[in-house]
Amino acid sequence: MTRQIVLASNNPGKVREIAQLLAALDLSVLPQSQFDVPDVEETGLTFVENAILKARNAARKTGLAAIADDSGLEVDALDGVPGIHSSRYAGIGSSDQADLDKLLQALTDVPQGDRSARFQCLMVYLAHEHDPTPIICQGAWEGRILFEPRGDNGFGYDPVFFVPTHNCSSAELPPEIKNELSHRGQALRMLVAALAKKG
Ligand code: IMP
Repeated sequence: MTRQIVLASNNPGKVREIAQLLAALDLSVLPQSQFDVPDVEETGLTFVENAILKARNAARKTGLAAIADDSGLEVDALDGVPGIHSSRYAGIGSSDQADLDKLLQALTDVPQGDRSARFQCLMVYLAHEHDPTPIICQGAWEGRILFEPRGDNGFGYDPVFFVPTHNCSSAELPPEIKNELSHRGQALRMLVAALAKKG
């Protein structure tokens, strides 16, 4: 029988991608908007804490198993900033463009050799609200920050994230290639494997 799982995100791209991979396991992924789950405050100090907060909130409100992810960009020259604050680097409610501009500004004087960075993604699964042993999967994608944006695909910091293995920015990659390489793709495939093993 198909089991339902709530996804603690309303991003249609994420829902589609996760639903496709989990359909093979007879799991049906539903966005939390279908249950009117209100967003929870991301008060954690780490990606994993925030992912668990989001998943627990969705599990509590729906009574279903829940999946959530939390992701962001770590820049070495900025000691890991923007990190968990990636979506609001330029302030609460800031646009992707404002966040990206602030990042380029902060790195103006940093030479190419010191612009290493990575995207991190923590994806968690809670069988229920009080699950004491969540499945936790982590993906990391290494690159460096460009001096100027390149490409129109993706979102967030993609136009300034240079992918050395493909010699282009992540906004210049076709979406299917980005999914193969990305922090989120890595974490998601690990989660699918863990759920398949769990049965
Ligand atoms: P969240 O995990 O949905 O909270 O997103 C965190 C933030 O990290 C996003 O708003 C982006 O600023 C950034 N981010 C995470 N993943 C990516 C990515 O694949 N490309 C570009 N930016 C990303």
